[in-house]
Amino acid sequence: MTGPVSAQELYEVIRRRRDVRAEFTGEPVDEATLLRILDAAHRAPSVGNSQPWDFIVVRDPATLRTFADHVASKRVEFHDSLPPDRAATFDPIKIEGITESGTGIVVTYRHDRGGPQVLGRATVPETGVYSAVLAIQNLWLAATAEGIGVGWVSFYDPEFLTDLVDLPEHLQLVAWLCVGPVHEFQEVPDLERFGWRTGRPLAEAIHRETFGAQDAPPARSSAYPRSPGS
Ligand SMILES: Cc1cc2nc3c(=O)[nH]c(=O)nc-3n(C[C@H](O)[C@H](O)[C@H](O)COP(=O)(O)O)c2cc1C
Repeated sequence: MTGPVSAQELYEVIRRRRDVRAEFTGEPVDEATLLRILDAAHRAPSVGNSQPWDFIVVRDPATLRTFADHVASKRVEFHDSLPPDRAATFDPIKIEGITESGTGIVVTYRHDRGGPQVLGRATVPETGVYSAVLAIQNLWLAATAEGIGVGWVSFYDPEFLTDLVDLPEHLQLVAWLCVGPVHEFQEVPDLERFGWRTGRPLAEAIHRETFGAQDAPPARSSAYPRSPGS
């Protein structure tokens, strides 16, 4: 089926999507909206139609607090591993909104979900995890369209989170996502706003025919596209 979906609106949602840390309102995402964005995630493409993902919705304030405390300790470890100038740049950067968002979604991957013969995964096993990540991207974009922020948190020991959400051994962690309504989406990614790292220009990422055939583009200090095609 083809139909009148506005490409412009879709590009606008893609442009507006941000990794959200500090802009959560503190209100929880309502159940109907949560189910719509999980439905969007569940419609993602997956290798061999294996749909290898699961979504664990975490709302118990005590669990959120426990995870936030663990992440805070990992933040300190990362901070202490940095040279002084990078540590100073890192200082004001918030890396999670676990308690403020009110909802965590733990995304997992199950390798045996697609049965013994997963069509398309035989030679590239990572395509299984890639599929789970595509579900996350669907969720992220659907949430953005709903005015719901998403923040991906990866500052954790996998063993710690596995125990916290009582994950069976055959499931692999992919992400903790902070999910909640926001009062705004920042225009510019936090890591760029705080001077940690700027985006690369699109031209640098595009190669033609072979990787080496591309002419080196002129260096630019910051070239984050502000609108489609710019
Ligand atoms: C796999 C993955 C892990 C990430 N982990 C974290 C994290 O632990 N903390 C954080 O603040 N942001 C995390 N991010 C968000 C990135 O920093 C962010 O996507 C990037 O800076 C670009 O900003 P934008 O998403 O707002 O465009 C993660 C993103 C991805 C895709």
